[in-house]
Amino acid sequence: MTESLLSRRFATMGRHEPLFYNEPLHLVSAHGVWLTDISGRRYLDAYNNVPHVGHCHPRIVEALRSQASTLNIHTRYLNEHVVDYSEELLSRFEPSLNRVLLTNSGSEANDLAFRMAAQHTGARGILVTDHSYHGNTTLLAGITTGLRTHEPLAAHVRAFPVPDLDAAENRDRDEQEILQEALEQVQRAAEELVAAGHGVSAVIMETLFSTEGLPRVPEGFVTGVAETVRSAGGLVIADEVQSGLGRLGSHFWGYQKHGLIPDLVTLGKPLGNGHPVAGVVTTGDLLEEFGSRNEYFNTFGGNPVSAAVAHEVLRVIDEEQLTQRCAQLGDLVAQRMQQLVQAHPRLGAAKGSGLFFGLSVFADEDHRQPDGASAKALVESVKEAGVLLSRIGPSGSVLKIRPPLALSQQELPVLLEAVEQAVGNVLQAP
Ligand SMILES: Cc1ncc(COP(=O)(O)O)c(C=O)c1O
Repeated sequence: MTESLLSRRFATMGRHEPLFYNEPLHLVSAHGVWLTDISGRRYLDAYNNVPHVGHCHPRIVEALRSQASTLNIHTRYLNEHVVDYSEELLSRFEPSLNRVLLTNSGSEANDLAFRMAAQHTGARGILVTDHSYHGNTTLLAGITTGLRTHEPLAAHVRAFPVPDLDAAENRDRDEQEILQEALEQVQRAAEELVAAGHGVSAVIMETLFSTEGLPRVPEGFVTGVAETVRSAGGLVIADEVQSGLGRLGSHFWGYQKHGLIPDLVTLGKPLGNGHPVAGVVTTGDLLEEFGSRNEYFNTFGGNPVSAAVAHEVLRVIDEEQLTQRCAQLGDLVAQRMQQLVQAHPRLGAAKGSGLFFGLSVFADEDHRQPDGASAKALVESVKEAGVLLSRIGPSGSVLKIRPPLALSQQELPVLLEAVEQAVGNVLQAP
């Protein structure tokens, strides 16, 4: 069955859409943090952040069913669901971020944010971090530094590195010196854009830097980048597609962890718990300027079914206190990962925040050679134990562990023990 499905998939969808694992997983159902494959085997999902409040959460399924059987229509008619949802979503932002445009994907949200920034500033230049990903439109392919794309970095784009305090080369250095050097690189990149005649329209940062491998950035780095870009006339876009909606435990949005207030915030993945909901949150002035110049319309964005589903996601987060639980579990995870790192010399620092965490794997005990092959072996070994995760970073050497926030304290040991065992097997503990 799985074999023939694979060949039918290749015959229709081609061979290039990525599939996880040496033996692809053929999944048939899910509930909470558990996925079931075609043979009936259950896996704990420690990878998927889209089913934020849990796979097939009954309240989300019911919100979808109920609204889909009542009315689904676009935003050219009045309907209270999209307004109710917009009010509720915006109540979770700082007062200046008080307008939202709803879209269907994170890519669409980022593309729109760049369009708004370019129109506001009259500039085209974009600053982006090394080894990042923000989506798949033509514009975004031209700023992609972290995934394979045929398009080179576009002429009006400059990439800058994100410093990692845990990197071996930074181990004995002063944090202030690392910060200053990193901000000078941003300054130089902005000057290059101006000198080339592009100007600076915006910087985009995913505030947890997940595709980049969850680097531990110096205090003041994110706000420093924002100041540099604003002094050059540009706007600041926080991409919260991965780090937002309570995932970090300590803060509802990733940018808040850095003390930043962005000009534009882009949202996606977890907003609809699997139903496609995304958007751009911005200021009244920026929306007014953009809206008065463009007849912006989005057929599916903000339809009543999507709005009802996304609204229910917010209610469930609140009522099940998922952000608070994420913070508690995140602390437990951080302690256990720290112990694991101490026991295994080839593991670098434990990384991340809340329920988005990682372990960096090295080929040497001095942590100078990232080891993507061992990280891949770990991902496969953890899967054999019945837990799903993945890997990130420039060398694919950082384990990416990001379960739905529905993970309970009782389920957490299943995840931690699988990781600990796999580390013992693959990295051969002393
Ligand atoms: C940080 C970030 N931004 C944007 C996107 C694009 O979102 P979508 O796939 O919904 O277009 C992704 C997708 O992986 C992402 O990780």
